[in-house]
Amino acid sequence: MTAATATTAETFRPALHYAARSTWLNDPNGLIFHEGVFHLYYQNNPLDNVWGNMSWGHATSPDLITWTEHAVAIACDEDEDIFSGSIVFDRENTSGFGTDSAPPLVAVYTSAFKSGSAHSGLQAQSLAYSRDGGYTWTKHTANPVLNRGSAEFRDPKVIRYTGDAGSYWVMVAVEATDFQAVLYKSYDLKNWELLSAFGPANATGGVWECPDLFPLPVDGDPNTLRWVLTVNLNPGGPNNGSAGQYFVGDFDGTTFTSATTVTEGLQDPDRLGEYQWLDWGRDYYAAVSFSDAPGGRRLMIAWMNNWEYANHIPTSPWRSPMTLAREVSLHTIDGKPRLIQRAAGDFASLSGPARTFSLADTEISDGTRILDGAAGSVQRIDITLAPGSATEFGLIVRGNGDQGTRIGIRPTQGALIVDRRDSGQTDFHETFASIDTAPIRTRDGSYELSIYVDHCSVEVFAQDGQVTMTELIFPAPTSTGLAVYASGGTATITSLHVTQYA
Ligand code: FRU
Repeated sequence: MTAATATTAETFRPALHYAARSTWLNDPNGLIFHEGVFHLYYQNNPLDNVWGNMSWGHATSPDLITWTEHAVAIACDEDEDIFSGSIVFDRENTSGFGTDSAPPLVAVYTSAFKSGSAHSGLQAQSLAYSRDGGYTWTKHTANPVLNRGSAEFRDPKVIRYTGDAGSYWVMVAVEATDFQAVLYKSYDLKNWELLSAFGPANATGGVWECPDLFPLPVDGDPNTLRWVLTVNLNPGGPNNGSAGQYFVGDFDGTTFTSATTVTEGLQDPDRLGEYQWLDWGRDYYAAVSFSDAPGGRRLMIAWMNNWEYANHIPTSPWRSPMTLAREVSLHTIDGKPRLIQRAAGDFASLSGPARTFSLADTEISDGTRILDGAAGSVQRIDITLAPGSATEFGLIVRGNGDQGTRIGIRPTQGALIVDRRDSGQTDFHETFASIDTAPIRTRDGSYELSIYVDHCSVEVFAQDGQVTMTELIFPAPTSTGLAVYASGGTATITSLHVTQYA
């Protein structure tokens, strides 16, 4: 690679998000807060910047914004690739991998067995343990610990269940091509007993992958807990390709019962918009939550990419960032339990004083208005907009007159849009340039958006996190302009506040 291309490509390196130094990554794995540190493991190709040689990479952060990359944690070998999974702190040393005074971390991962190995072609669940707080890992000698003779059984997320039924480990994994989440129980992480299966339900337009299961208080009331089952699927998302859906219901220690199932069995393509999505954008996949997050918070990170074009995005030598960490909570909206999401990192940790720009009560008339003094390439934008006569209105971020990403509202369609057709480099894959939509309604007559813009992404949290859209963009480094626009009429900016991070 020439120095010039290296420099160009590095202009996309995110400031607010994790990306590996020089290699490929996909799903976040083994997210855990342990001994004061957030650990992010991830599907990693240690040798290249396309998918392959799947191993677990490793990074840590004190604040979910600044990350330090470490040595590969669990490496593939001649028998197996190390697919996605999770990590638990085995406090009572139920596994016996540590001691009572020095309990271990235990990783539960999918062994994707290679041809020529003893379990050639199968996917089964295996263990590795760490006695040094997550920095070095040893594979269990009796792997795999859970093998059901399936070639599509993967992505175990293990949680500690304590409830009416007792106290034990619960694993949720997928039978990917059956569109099922399967639940198992164990007392020692080594012996697993089948509890139940959930699905197919709601979206089944692609394989089910990377599930999660966790309880959350409803409307902040600790006495009213409901359980959330998240399932990622690929393809079949609301704007095509990879995406994550969720169900809210109850878990009695054996069975998850959904209260938000819209369709049972295989999906009804006409009802895709009625299902519950973790994110409506093109680039929010394999979302999974942290174990043991401080303060009982439920924090999630997703892979910010889409299998449709993942191996082609124009970054080098690294490829694929993670999303921001988000805190999810459960609220009753129109009588139904719904996830609300907010960015969770400690942005105060970013170096240098953040610069700001503000505006209030300003009408936008038909056309585009560049906001002098608001330009930037890494920023948080908080805007409240009231509709007028315009058929579409909103913001253009990372613009330069010719290119820019529109983040707008089409009030009569009830749609939030991200239009990245002119967002910068788009021609590396035929499906990348797109206008993507999510359903949105006014709240108190207006639309409120919080948008995080980075060197290669936009993440939109609309209506206080009720609707989110996450999308990659690859603008020229000189495209830093911020503008507001209205088409076919007027709209009003009730308030606008921009915080510049870089
Ligand atoms: C999801 C996924 C998982 C699998 C991993 C392999 O993106 O396909 O199901 O464990 O990636 O890298």
